[in-house]
Amino acid sequence: MTQAPPGRPIRPWWEPGVIYQVYPRSYQDSNGDGVGDLPGIASRLDHLEWLGVDAVWLSPIFRSPMRDFGYDISDYRDIDPLFGTLADLDRLVAAAHERGLRLILDFVPNHTSSDHPWFVESRSSRDNPKRNWYVWRDPAPDGGPPNNWRSAFGDMSAWQLDERTGQYYLHVFLPEQVDLDWTNPEVRAAMLDVMRFWFERGIDGFRIDVINLLSKDPELRDEEPNPDWRPGMPPRARWLWNRMSDGPAMPEYLAKVRAVADEFGDRVLIGETYMPLERLVRYYGGEHPGIHLPFNFQLLLLPWDAETIGGWVATYEAALPANGWPNWVLGNHDQPRVASRIGEAQARVAAMLLLTLRGTPTLYAGDEIGMTNGDIPADRIVDVGGRDPERTPMQWEPGRGAGFTTGTPWLPIGRDADRVNVTVERDDPRSILSLHRRLLELRRAEPALSVGDWEPLPTVTGVLVYSRRLDDRRLLVALNLTPDRCDAPLPAGRWRTVIATGLDRDADAWEDTVTLRGDEGLVLEPV
Ligand code: NOJ
Repeated sequence: MTQAPPGRPIRPWWEPGVIYQVYPRSYQDSNGDGVGDLPGIASRLDHLEWLGVDAVWLSPIFRSPMRDFGYDISDYRDIDPLFGTLADLDRLVAAAHERGLRLILDFVPNHTSSDHPWFVESRSSRDNPKRNWYVWRDPAPDGGPPNNWRSAFGDMSAWQLDERTGQYYLHVFLPEQVDLDWTNPEVRAAMLDVMRFWFERGIDGFRIDVINLLSKDPELRDEEPNPDWRPGMPPRARWLWNRMSDGPAMPEYLAKVRAVADEFGDRVLIGETYMPLERLVRYYGGEHPGIHLPFNFQLLLLPWDAETIGGWVATYEAALPANGWPNWVLGNHDQPRVASRIGEAQARVAAMLLLTLRGTPTLYAGDEIGMTNGDIPADRIVDVGGRDPERTPMQWEPGRGAGFTTGTPWLPIGRDADRVNVTVERDDPRSILSLHRRLLELRRAEPALSVGDWEPLPTVTGVLVYSRRLDDRRLLVALNLTPDRCDAPLPAGRWRTVIATGLDRDADAWEDTVTLRGDEGLVLEPV
């Protein structure tokens, strides 16, 4: 627990904290093989400390044949040699902790690699003791898959026939990512022990991959067609994902993972939860506590206009259960880069939004410098899910390799790397990197911005205005989500600019109305 100032509630560190997601393959290569690694990340902790984030979440670094770049694990208790060793991880944890940074790992409990020894055993015969660690079913009467479930990748069944034993196994992702059967208590015990293994090594929490898939419909009934599906939408969206996901045992499994975290105290559990709001809020727990932060992905998914975004913030705030702490995500390794989705100018406004909403923000590495989607020539495509553009290497400096590698990078370096990089932007007091740093500094200095109450204020079309209030400190945030100049009304009193997205206004003062330039956001304080 963090020490609370007098009169304030004691809060866990992650409530006011800011999480920074590192995609380890793409952060820093230390040995010239073109792939990022743990010693590389350790060598960049200076950047994270300077930037001012609180915790680093690493996408999976465990042993893996890398068919889904680490989300297909063949040994949950070892580091893949590509990334380093267990000793490297221990050193990284210690070095992060020395700087007051927390380290969060990625837990992938829904599926193992088909190379995992458990699955190798499971598929070896129908009566192998590990057979029921995975979801095996007989073919349908016509010899086809047991039901209509589709894989999240490509346009294929989620079932794969194993010729040797004559049954199908379930894989919601690649055929090489095999769904574990969480109804089996041995599976649950084994996976909960994996959590303990890493907690004992000192990590501060887990981001839990597709946590909502752990419980499935016990009868494995067919999915129903999605009435909103239109040609052009991904094939996986043709069906509702009601039966593969969020099944009846979810509350029990959430309570179990939470109980393990609680054995260690002060650790955070974040869940990957692409789900409608009424389901998502249940992941905070009911009768028993669930996870701390079911990811709120709507800033990644909603159309970027003030009415939609403002409406969502209000809806989400209102739907949170009493002890449910909010959280916000603007980018990750599965979604197009924010600067490409909404443009470089609006990416600054988005950064101000992310870092001034109530709750825990997650910042995706590279977004702090405004990285855009990479151009991936056809012969360099490596991801089955089309997600290479948002995974290109971190751009540290101008020049070949962008400071990421001395070798050949596993994905091409962004074309804009000579302009969009840490070194150049650190020296530019108005860069988007400087903006992120200043916002993070302000957020730390002004608890009203992290933990204060959020209240929407009357405004004009295209502009979001809200207040953040803690005790008698009140700040306003005014964000213009359009490229046009706009006048927005302000509450009574005189207000002074604390920070502008362009970092180019010093203490401008306002009364009744604020005039925002196109693509501009301001934080204001009472004069
Ligand atoms: C979600 C992860 O974020 C994604 O990268 C991965 O492909 C799937 N889960 C499967 O593990």
